[in-house]
Amino acid sequence: MKVLVTAGPTREAIDPVRFISNRSSGKMGYAVAEAARDAGHAVRLISGPVALAAPEGVALVRVTTAAEMLAAVKQHVRGCDVLVMAAAVSDWRPKKIAALKLKKSDGPPRIAWEATPDILKTIAPLKKNAQVFCGFAAETDRVAAEAKRKRREKNLDAIAANDVSKKGRGFESDRNALTIFLATGRAVRVAPTTKKNCARILLGVLAGIEKKKKK
Ligand code: PMT
Repeated sequence: MKVLVTAGPTREAIDPVRFISNRSSGKMGYAVAEAARDAGHAVRLISGPVALAAPEGVALVRVTTAAEMLAAVKQHVRGCDVLVMAAAVSDWRPKKIAALKLKKSDGPPRIAWEATPDILKTIAPLKKNAQVFCGFAAETDRVAAEAKRKRREKNLDAIAANDVSKKGRGFESDRNALTIFLATGRAVRVAPTTKKNCARILLGVLAGIEKKKKK
C-alpha cells in the first residue's frame, strides 16, 4: 500500500521569536511510519518540527505550520491508499504575526486568534471510496464520545483515541494505549504498550479495512 502519515506538532508564529504549539514529540506518528515501512509499504511522512531522526526508507516532508501541513497533505493525499493523521495540529493561530519582537516592557500582549484550517475536514471531499482515512484523538475527558464525534465529523474510516490524562502514555512517552473506533461501529482496544506495538496493531486494522474496500 501507499501510506501517508502526519506526525508531530505544528507551530504558529506570534512574532519573529515566539510561537504557540503543543506537547507532541512526533513519536507516535514516526512509529506508524516505521511500522508501515517495515510491513513493506511505500511511506511518506509529513512531519512538524520534532527532535527525531528522519526514518530510513521513508520519504520525509518537513513542515512548520498548520497551513503548510494542509498544503503538503493536499499535494500527496490523492495517490495514497491509507492516510494516518497522527499530527497534533494547532487549533488556533494569531490573526496577525507581529513583524518585530513584542517588547516585554509593553506588558502582556493582547493577541487576536483565529482557527487554523482543519486538514481532515478540508480534504474529506477529495477522498476516493477505496481510500482509508484514519485520525487520532487526544482527549482528557469524555474520550470515547469525543473521538466518535470527530470520526463522524471528519468522515474517517477509523479514529485512534488516546486518553492523554493518564501518566506514562500519550504525549512524549514511548508508550501509548488506544481505542480504535471504526466506521462500522466496531472498537479495537490496544492495552498499554509501546508506540511501536500500537502502530503495528493500528496498521493491521487499517490494512484489513483497505482489503475489504478493494474487494
Ligand atoms: O507525538 P507524540 O508525543 O508521540 O504524541 C502522540 C499524540 C498524542 C500527539 C497522538 O497520538 C495524537 O493523539 N494525535 C492527535 C492529536 C490531537 O489532538 O488531535 P485532535 O483531537 O486535535 O484532532 C483530531 C484529528 O484531526 C487528528 O487526526 C488531527 O491530526 C486532525 N486535525 C486536527 C486539527 C486540525 N486543524 N486539522 C486536523 O486535521
